[in-house]
Amino acid sequence: MSNWRFNLTPIDVPKVETKYRKITTKLPVPESLEILETLDHFEAKTMLGQMPVVWDRAEGFQVHDAWGNTWIDFTSTIFVANAGHGNPKIVNALREQLDKPLLHTYNFASKIRADYLRYLIESTPPQFEKACLFVAGTEATEAALRLMRMHGWKIGKKQPGVIAFEGCFHGETLGARMMSYNPKAKEWIGYHDPHIYHLPFPYPWRMDAIADPRAYFRSGMSKLIKQNQLNPKEDLCGFILETYQGWGAAFYPEEFVHELMDFAHENGMLVAFDEMQSGFGRTGKLFGYMHYGVEPDLLCCGKGASSSMPLSMILGKQEILDLPEFGEMYSTHSANPLACAAGLANLHELMEGGLLENSRLLGDLFHSRLNLIKNHFPEQIRCVLGKGLVAAVHFVDQDGRPLVDLCNRICLEAMRRGLLVVHTGRESIKLAPPLCINEEALMEGLDALEQAIAECIGK
Ligand SMILES: Cc1ncc(COP(=O)(O)O)c(C=O)c1O
Repeated sequence: MSNWRFNLTPIDVPKVETKYRKITTKLPVPESLEILETLDHFEAKTMLGQMPVVWDRAEGFQVHDAWGNTWIDFTSTIFVANAGHGNPKIVNALREQLDKPLLHTYNFASKIRADYLRYLIESTPPQFEKACLFVAGTEATEAALRLMRMHGWKIGKKQPGVIAFEGCFHGETLGARMMSYNPKAKEWIGYHDPHIYHLPFPYPWRMDAIADPRAYFRSGMSKLIKQNQLNPKEDLCGFILETYQGWGAAFYPEEFVHELMDFAHENGMLVAFDEMQSGFGRTGKLFGYMHYGVEPDLLCCGKGASSSMPLSMILGKQEILDLPEFGEMYSTHSANPLACAAGLANLHELMEGGLLENSRLLGDLFHSRLNLIKNHFPEQIRCVLGKGLVAAVHFVDQDGRPLVDLCNRICLEAMRRGLLVVHTGRESIKLAPPLCINEEALMEGLDALEQAIAECIGK
C-alpha cells in the first residue's frame, strides 16, 4: 500500500440508478463521516487506506450502505467472498452452529471439524492427504516455511534454504515477511534470514523470460547458487510461489513452473504454492496451480476458503503434515467450529453449486471485454493479466513508468459510479467479482470501469 489517503470531504457526484447500482447521495456520504472519523481516531493508521464506503449489508455480488447506495463489488472484499457475500447456505451453516450453540472448541474434537476435513481432503487431489487449519493466511505460509525446513532437516539437508520470488507477498508475520520481497516493508525487522533467497520473476514484459522461460529459470538459479555458494542438494529445502503474483495477477509461464518442479525434484526440495488469492475457484479451477499441470507438495490457502469467517490452511502429504509433534503447529482459534461450518458450506457451493463453472465461463467474457478496454487506452494500459474471475489492469506510461496516481483516481471514480475495485496502491487495478455474479452485472461493472478510466484519462 502507498501513503495515498482517500479524501473524506463529501462531494456531489452524478446520480446513478441502474439494475445493479445505485448512488443517490454525496460521496463519502455526509452521515457516514462520524463512523469514518471514529475509526480515524481510534484505529491504527495501517487500516485507513481504503475508499470511504461504510458497508452495511453485502449480498451476492452487491454491497449496500445504510443510506441507499448500492455498489457492484469487484473486490470480493479481498478475494474472500468467492461464493458470494452472505451466501444463504453459508449463513444457514453458521446459524446451525450459533443455535446449538457451539462457538469455540480450541483443539477438542467437534463433528463439524471432522466433516469439513473429510470433505476438504476428499475434494482435493490425492497428494493432499492431510490439512492443518489456521486463522490467517500468514499462518499457512509460515507453516510452509517451517514444514519445508523440517522436511529438509529430516532428509539430511545441511542448510535450511528456501527460495521465494521477486515481487512476492506471503503475509505479515516474521517468516512470511522475510519470504515476501518488498525490502522497504521489512526494514523494521533489522536483519534478513540468510537462508531465504529470491529469484527473478518472469514478468510478461521481460522479453528474455517470455522467449525462453526454462532458460530464464535456470539462469536465475545459477546466479543465485553462485552468489550464495550453495549446493542445492544439501542447502535448499524448498520453493514457495504465489500461483500468480498478487499485485499484478501475473501467472508464471507454464514451462518456467515445469523447470522449477524438475529442479526441485532433482534436488530433494519441496514446492509450496501460496493459493491465498487464487484458491477456491477464483481462476476458473478449484486451485490456480491446476493451470500449470503440476502437483505441488504443499498448498497454502485462506481468503476464499470460507467466503466469510477467518479460515486458512495448509495441505500436503501425511509424512510432511505430521512432522510437527502434538501441539507444535496450531493456534488458539485454529479450526473454530464456525469457520469449519462456513468452510464446509463454501466448498460445497463451489463444487456443487456451479460456481467453478461460472468462474471459468464468465472469466473468458471478462478477459475478452477487458482486452477491448485495454485497446481503447493503449497509451496508458500495458496489459491485462489474470485468469477466470481475477484480473489486473496494468497502467504505465509510454516509457513503462508506473501510473500509480491514475490508478488511485480510477478507483475513486469507479466508486462514485457504483463499482468497487481493488485498490492496490500500485500501478495495477485488480478486479475480482464474487463467483456468483451474472453476465449482465459483470458487463455493467465493466462499463462503469471503462467510463471511470475515460473520465480520469480525459477521453
Ligand atoms: C498471496 C498471499 N499470501 C498470503 C497472504 C496473507 O494472508 P492473510 O492476510 O490472511 O494473513 C495474502 C494476503 O493478502 C496474500 O495475498
